[in-house]
Formats: sequence, structure tokens, C-alpha cells
Amino acid sequence: MKRKVSVAPMMDCTDRHERYFLRLISKNTFLYTEMIVDEAISRGNKKKLLEFNINEKPVALQLGGSSPKLLAEASRVGEEFGYDEINLNLGCPSKKVEKNRFGACLMKEPNLVADCLVKMQSKTKLPVTIKTRIGYDNVEDYEHFYNFISILKQTGVKTFIIHARKAMLGKFTPKQNLNIPPLKYDYVYRLKKDFPNEEIIINGGIKSVEEIKAHLEKTDGIMIGRAAYHTPYLLAEIEKEIFKNNNVPSRQHIIEQLIPYIKDEIKKGTRINQIMRHTLGLFHGQNGASHWKKYLSENMCVRDADVQKIDHIMDKIKYKKIEQRVG
Ligand SMILES: Cc1cc2nc3c(=O)[nH]c(=O)nc-3n(C[C@H](O)[C@H](O)[C@H](O)COP(=O)(O)O)c2cc1C
Repeated sequence: MKRKVSVAPMMDCTDRHERYFLRLISKNTFLYTEMIVDEAISRGNKKKLLEFNINEKPVALQLGGSSPKLLAEASRVGEEFGYDEINLNLGCPSKKVEKNRFGACLMKEPNLVADCLVKMQSKTKLPVTIKTRIGYDNVEDYEHFYNFISILKQTGVKTFIIHARKAMLGKFTPKQNLNIPPLKYDYVYRLKKDFPNEEIIINGGIKSVEEIKAHLEKTDGIMIGRAAYHTPYLLAEIEKEIFKNNNVPSRQHIIEQLIPYIKDEIKKGTRINQIMRHTLGLFHGQNGASHWKKYLSENMCVRDADVQKIDHIMDKIKYKKIEQRVG
């Protein structure tokens, strides 16, 4: 089952470079793009917004929007670009997003969401999935959540990703909305019992393999956000423990594999920090991890980096030293 473990869509985090990097660590996790707004796809530079490296697959494109027409068109374009799934964001609580009528505020408009999902599915053969919360503001009873999912299910959507806390619309900052409303995993477990034939993925606050194992007893899959970003080598542990893959690369090997990608990207005009910023947490928890972070912070912002400079920087990077100390 391909969505057993996935990495959450995260703005400014899960761009194509992060996904390429994570894929070097883990072959089996399912990856998501950052949220991309339907209108940006319609009016903007599609190639710049949507192109990705084939090695990142499987990757889902997450869309934001509430126009059935624009979302349908964006889904079609997403399929053309080679994505494996189209996901609709019904969980983002930011004020800006609410003003534009997408994200978590759409939980107030299930019929509009259903309309969007029908149109999206009519324009793509890819699975169309949703990511939502368990409620919003004072609307937090299980029955309301159940009814919301029931309406969406009638459109033919089979996969529901649930961030197991409610959204406080317009009241909290996005950061507060990721931490303050309490996690209610039991809502998601109950949803799985009520919809045994649908794929129910749980998200929110998951940080360890033990937690993952416990959630997998009661749901079909888990999605990890911040822990995967800040401690990416957790995905290696997941490969070993959850996917029983004993062929997991070392941290050093991951960086070595990243170098040809960096060189290639530099030639296309990418700056080294656009890639390396995602690797800051690679040695998290290891002796000497602070050397890695410090060295990167001081050196990854070089301007006009050319391939020689990258070689020089990579030679100097202290990862070898770190690995030796770790043993
Ligand atoms: C920096 C950041 C950006 C995020 N951007 C998105 C986004 O674009 N779309 C989305 O559905 N959720 C977004 N989220 C929410 C995450 O997908 C996830 O639901 C949330 O972080 C809870 O999971 P976690 O506790 O494992 O981090 C974002 C979260 C963070 C921390």
C-alpha cells in the first residue's frame, strides 16, 4: 500500500529539492508537494511551478483553491506533468488562505468542496484525495466531522488524510494552529471504523517509529510533517522498521549521492542553499551535528556558485569527520 507512510505537504519545505533529498533516504514513503494554488497554475509558469525530477516519484500534487473549474484544470495539468495523485487542501487555516476561500475554511462549505472534487475527478484519472482537519472553531463534534467526510465520500474520493486537530480560523497564527488545538487521534480511529472501506491516513504530532506502529494498528497510513523535515534521517529508520528494508544508505552516502544532483542543478541556475538548507537536520542527534549545521550556515549562501566552488565546499564539509566520530 503506497500511502502507508507519507511526508506532509509543507509550504517552503517540501519543494522539489527537499523531495529529491528525502527520496535518497527513503524509497517507500509517499511525498507531497507544497500547496500550489489553482490560479497560479492557470496563470503562472507551469513548468516552474510543477516540474520535478522523475526520481522523486511517487509524488502527489497538493492544490489549494475552491473554484471547481480551476481545480479541475489544475488536476489535468498535474496529471500531464506526471504526478501520482492530486490532493486538495482543506486544512490550512491561515488568514490569507481564508480570505481567498481555500484551505480549512472550506470545511464550512461541504457542498462546494464536493462540487470541486467531482469536477477534479472528471478531468483526471489520478486518485483525487483530500487533506483536512477534524473541525474548526467551535465546530468540533465527531458527528459534524463524520457528516463532512460522508458528503465528500459520495463524490468517489477514497483517500482521506486527517490532521487530527481542529483549525482555529482567523484567531491563531498558522504556527499556533499547528500546536495549540489538542490532537484527537480517537476521531481518526473512529472514522476508520465508520468507513472501513476507505483509506484513512492519520497526521499530526507523529515523531517516532513506535508511534507509527501504534497508529498503523488503527488506520491505513500515517503522514509525518515537521519530524520528517527537521530530522530527515527518521525516514531511514522507517525504511528499516516499517518497510523492512535493510539496504538503507548512511548519512554520508546520502550526501555523496546528492552531489551530482547539486552540480546538475547549479548549471540550471539553482543556488546551493536552495538545496542544502533542507539537509541541515540530517545529522540531528549525532555527535558533531552542530559542525554540519554551522558549516552549512556559513557556506551555503555563496553567490554565483559554480561547479568548482561546490566541489570545494563539499570537500570541506565536515560530514566525513562527523561520520567517523559517530563510528
Ligand atoms: C512549515 C509548514 C508548512 C505547511 N504547509 C502546508 C501545506 O502547504 N499544505 C497542507 O496541507 N499542510 C501544510 N502544513 C501542515 C502539515 O502538512 C501537517 O498537517 C502538520 O504539520 C501536522 O503534522 P506534523 O505534526 O507531523 O508536523 C504545513 C506545516 C508546516 C510546519
